[in-house]
Amino acid sequence: MLRIGVLASGRGSNFQAIIDEIEAGRINGKIEILIVDNPEAFAIERAKKHHIPFLYLNPKSFPSKEAFYEKIRDELIARSVELVVLAGFMRIVKKPLLDAFPNRIMNIHPALLPSFPGLHGQKQAVDYGVRISGCTVHFVDEGVDTGPIIIQAAVPVHPDDTEESLSKRILQLEHKIFPEAIRLYAEGKLKVEGRKVKILDYKLPQIYFTNPEIR
Ligand code: GRF
Repeated sequence: MLRIGVLASGRGSNFQAIIDEIEAGRINGKIEILIVDNPEAFAIERAKKHHIPFLYLNPKSFPSKEAFYEKIRDELIARSVELVVLAGFMRIVKKPLLDAFPNRIMNIHPALLPSFPGLHGQKQAVDYGVRISGCTVHFVDEGVDTGPIIIQAAVPVHPDDTEESLSKRILQLEHKIFPEAIRLYAEGKLKVEGRKVKILDYKLPQIYFTNPEIR
């Protein structure tokens, strides 16, 4: 069983999707801890409801960013975490954590990388005028949303879309591909080769694309 640590900053709907897939028996894993950098994060309520231990760490109470990530690293290692999942964690992960978990930290980004990295990926897509956007699950490296891509899913961008309407459409697929990537990892099916991720026994699931009729 894969020992998972989750980092989150807010709502935690992706965290919930992962909890649901584990509880349904589709991911052979256990969430050992939720770590949040925001005491108001709704993710905390979800952890409580599902009896998942959680920890709030205030970044401002550490002398440096490195010290903050050393603490996170130590908490994860203390629980023998094997995979770290960034589920709406609104910070750039620094070296102490990256070095301890090489190609073992996953993130979900609400755009089709390498387009629109960083904050507000959905707004960037609407403002740019692209016709297709989506979401990307990737391993985390030292860059901002630059690590090896595991799964992507695409949605149409409609002419009357707003940041909110596009975010909603993308989020539905985030909740499918993030648990899917974790499931593949738990089954030992992901192999990182340079900047590419090889998926063993790869079959293209339908969830990669939405029905264009879906608003
Ligand atoms: C999602 O849009 C995710 O792609 C981005 O942050 C948001 C988190 O949402 N990284 P939630 O907290 O999982 O509901």
